[in-house]
Amino acid sequence: MKKQLILALAFVAALMTSCKSSDKPLAGQNWHVENGVIVTNEPRRAAGQQSMLEFYTDPIPVVRVGFVGLGMRGPGAVNRFTHLEGVEIKALCDKYPDRAHACQRYLTNAGMPEAAEYSGEEGYKQLCERDDIDLVYIATNWQTHVEIALYAMEHGKHVAIEVPSATSIEDCWRLVDTSERTRRHCMMLENCVYDFFELTCLNMAQQGLFGEILHTEGAYIHNLTPYWDEYADNWRLDFNQKHGGDVYPTHGFGPCCEALNIHRGDKMEYLVSMATKSVNGLKVAKAKMGVDEFACGDHIVTLVMTKSGKSMEIQHNVFTPRPYNRLYQLTGTEGFANKYPITGFTFHNSQIDRDALPDIPRLDEHSFVSDEVKNKLLQYYKHPIHQEIEEKAKQVGGHGGMDFVMDYRLIYCLQNGLPLDQDVYDLAEWCCISELSAISHANKSMPVRVPDFTRGDWNKVKGLHFYMKGELPAAKIAKKL
Ligand SMILES: NC(=O)c1ccc[n+]([C@@H]2O[C@H](COP(=O)([O-])OP(=O)(O)OC[C@H]3O[C@@H](n4cnc5c(N)ncnc54)[C@H](O)[C@@H]3O)[C@@H](O)[C@H]2O)c1
Repeated sequence: MKKQLILALAFVAALMTSCKSSDKPLAGQNWHVENGVIVTNEPRRAAGQQSMLEFYTDPIPVVRVGFVGLGMRGPGAVNRFTHLEGVEIKALCDKYPDRAHACQRYLTNAGMPEAAEYSGEEGYKQLCERDDIDLVYIATNWQTHVEIALYAMEHGKHVAIEVPSATSIEDCWRLVDTSERTRRHCMMLENCVYDFFELTCLNMAQQGLFGEILHTEGAYIHNLTPYWDEYADNWRLDFNQKHGGDVYPTHGFGPCCEALNIHRGDKMEYLVSMATKSVNGLKVAKAKMGVDEFACGDHIVTLVMTKSGKSMEIQHNVFTPRPYNRLYQLTGTEGFANKYPITGFTFHNSQIDRDALPDIPRLDEHSFVSDEVKNKLLQYYKHPIHQEIEEKAKQVGGHGGMDFVMDYRLIYCLQNGLPLDQDVYDLAEWCCISELSAISHANKSMPVRVPDFTRGDWNKVKGLHFYMKGELPAAKIAKKL
């Protein structure tokens, strides 16, 4: 009897141990599982921090700027800023002194005084410590964005940071928290939201042309084979070698989030992600870095579900030979927009305002509208921002002009004391996709909750609004928040 009891107890103990190990909740460094969904740590808002929704400061009539990071991308920004009214370029900084110095020529050509030069890995600190700079414009490698931005905000500067501004969820929170505490703008320099087709489509979407947008697609598909040798100190391949997930999500994702009013009436709930193995990435890294592993899959697909039942797809592939493609697709109940590989629209006939657009014939609802109709629609629905600045933007250039539109809007909003078009929550939401997709893929595509960086305020502002001179954000905020 005693022997039987011991055996029974041993059996129960073994059963409990096995249940324990199989039921043990999965957990990573910064996440745990709740009801089958991976949930990353979401810190509470600390005392002394305030929401940055619709945040604006006193107007800054002359915006004094310091640039940090003058490799391939940064010098173009310096040049564009010489074409903006009401801007003084006070400082130029790059790790390598010759790169900072080389940008003086843009200032000289524009008849502007030379700027102070800083160099070395920590030269940006001296730039941020100056008391005659309002905005620090950061175009360094991904690994250094956050430390530079935090230092700048701690020293009272507004910051504009290249894409992706942050590459980890923790860094997204650090930028949100520091911006909320220091009350400094922290904007990502996501230029693709200002591209001519995307901004026109946003205007059409806001006027209801697509009906309710139910699904969006975006991508960054750009074969970087010719460029891997060009990045300073090999930072880009090095990052891809060490990190899985969609490491460059914002160009494809930003315009889609804007069309869906993310954190302005809707929010992302969870995502799932799946990546291929690395073949071409590994091949190039083996040759260049002598490594045998490569974390970033050649092609990665991520799907996001929103609170109000919309779906979003985003892809990343910088390794295989394909035509450049950001997809940009909006599927609405009443219409459809597509940018790559062919630009086109499809609409229910009832969506066309025949009084305003009498020349548009009856449409075939199964096909793209004709080029003639498309061009009429693009002209009619041109966004007011493009109406204002398109011509100059195309002359100054920068990805066909969209980069200048972005810089123009940043400076315009600062000069007029308006909320910026993109806030720190956009930055965090668009950037967090990197690490969240990596976590999902590494856990057999388990769903991962997308953090609410607004900490519950995602439904307080109704719809995305690009402010124009004379509008009163204070009145809007008082009503809505
Ligand atoms: N929005 C766009 O369309 C677009 C296009 C290209 C690049 N980018 C982004 O711009 C950024 C820069 O990319 P890039 O192609 O110019 O790379 P790059 O390697 O050519 O330039 C990066 C520069 O940063 C400098 N740097 C590194 N650490 C520094 C530090 N501590 N202080 C000062 N300078 C430092 C490097 O010396 C280098 O000159 C990246 O974030 C990239 O994703 C955006």
